[in-house]
Amino acid sequence: MRRRRMLFSLLMVAAAGMGTTAAAAISPHPARAAATTVPLDRVVPAPASVQPGGRPYTLGDDTRIRVPAGSWESRRIAGYLADLLRPATGYDLPVTTRGGNDGIVLRLGGRHARGLGAEGYRLTSGGRAVTITAARPAGLFRGVQTLRQLLPAAVERRTGRPGRPGPWRIAGGTIADRPRYAHRGAMLDVSRHFFTVAQVKRSIDQLAQYKINTLHLHLSDDQGWRIALASWPRLATYGGSTQVGGGPGGYYTKDDYREIVRYAADRYLTVIPEIDMPGHTNAALASYAELNCDGKAPPLYTGTSVGFSSLCVPKKVTYDFIDDVIREIAALTPGRYLHIGGDEAHSTSHQDYVAFMDRVQPVVAKYGKTVIGWHQLTGARPADGAVAQYWGYDKTGAPERAKVVDAAKRGTGIILSPADHAYLDMKYDKDSPLGTNWAGYVGVRRSYDWDPGDYLEGAPGEAILGVEAPLWSETLSTSAHLEYMTFPRLPALAELGWSPADTHDWAAFRERLAAQGPRWDAQGIHYYRSPEVPWPDGR
Ligand code: ACM
Repeated sequence: MRRRRMLFSLLMVAAAGMGTTAAAAISPHPARAAATTVPLDRVVPAPASVQPGGRPYTLGDDTRIRVPAGSWESRRIAGYLADLLRPATGYDLPVTTRGGNDGIVLRLGGRHARGLGAEGYRLTSGGRAVTITAARPAGLFRGVQTLRQLLPAAVERRTGRPGRPGPWRIAGGTIADRPRYAHRGAMLDVSRHFFTVAQVKRSIDQLAQYKINTLHLHLSDDQGWRIALASWPRLATYGGSTQVGGGPGGYYTKDDYREIVRYAADRYLTVIPEIDMPGHTNAALASYAELNCDGKAPPLYTGTSVGFSSLCVPKKVTYDFIDDVIREIAALTPGRYLHIGGDEAHSTSHQDYVAFMDRVQPVVAKYGKTVIGWHQLTGARPADGAVAQYWGYDKTGAPERAKVVDAAKRGTGIILSPADHAYLDMKYDKDSPLGTNWAGYVGVRRSYDWDPGDYLEGAPGEAILGVEAPLWSETLSTSAHLEYMTFPRLPALAELGWSPADTHDWAAFRERLAAQGPRWDAQGIHYYRSPEVPWPDGR
């Protein structure tokens, strides 16, 4: 890993045509620039390579955002950037395809983009321009998130007086960056409590800032079914009519869901829908009596127990139901994966569980999708190409871990969501007003201080697809609740997924994380002011 990264850094700096020494030598006021700009390495997640030096770039009322002609995606990304910067700066920031090397320049493809991969970018800042180069639009978008963090925190203000005093300055130098892992996810449980399209969009905007590229939506559980399907309409209209605590619940129409998928895709996040089965299915069982082995529908459930429900494995109608559900959801899903849950099936016998997974996984393949399941799937027979999401913790037994490692050795991909590091719904400490603590307390350092590369001992490195931070919503019902649990821990997980292993350093991370606080304040994000982080205002 270290060798690969060094090679990458050398190539990138060579491609940029400038080294540290040369760049530093042309800086006329290095001390003043340093005092008024965000240091180039104060970015979360930590970039793969940073070479500070040279003159800063200063945004002005003549700054244009230049995009290549013929790339509608570059134009859209430029529009997104302009929308971010206009309210605070008050500048027009027109987007233009007219050639030129000054201003904010987005460059796509060409020889300068070699080696940057699907999401990598290079950002070069100097006296005349700040240039983001990428091989693919996703890389430009990730680079734009870095650019945001290099401007003063006040740039994140969306309300109030426009045209705040600058200078809106970006330190000189070059960042060359690309992710360590292809999968960098966050999961939102919209079943235990329902969250509206607007709330989900707010979350997507927050996740995108930390280069998260996957939004896993937990769409069904005992307490609610959250997506309207034409073939089994009562799933949503009845099964979605409540939530934990007995509130009104809710569900997404197909158009709502498409809107979420599109909003995420515009920010280069892919949505993975999850329909949890055979357990966690009370909302479906309550909606259709015939899905129950005894033909009787249970009442809706608004508590927080787990493990009491199961689809009826021997019944034919179960598979008619699953075929319809997977067909309709696959048709709404541009991404490759469909998550079938499979966790905590405590009311399903092991034999039934294995038989169930043998029948259901081919249905996912039939509709053109690849299976993801919680890691209990490795206790059955994971299909070729299937992915298991590991959510064990320090008390998970060796035999259970061994099954996951064995599956990884046989080709099952692994997403790491260890509950005692990655679960965003765990309380930070004993005083946390929200969350649960069955996997212990997860402070900020605990969420950060582990390495996905060696976490599952014995699993081949190439089996680890990345990391994901799940947010279960038994105790969470507002956006403020979600934000309190997500920040500041999500950036830690995002960094584990993105940054090279040799950037890992708690002391440096907590400083970089602290600098995010004023950005969250400016955006109105209700984060937890953890005492583990040296926030600049001393809180
Ligand atoms: C889980 O937390 N039951 C996947």
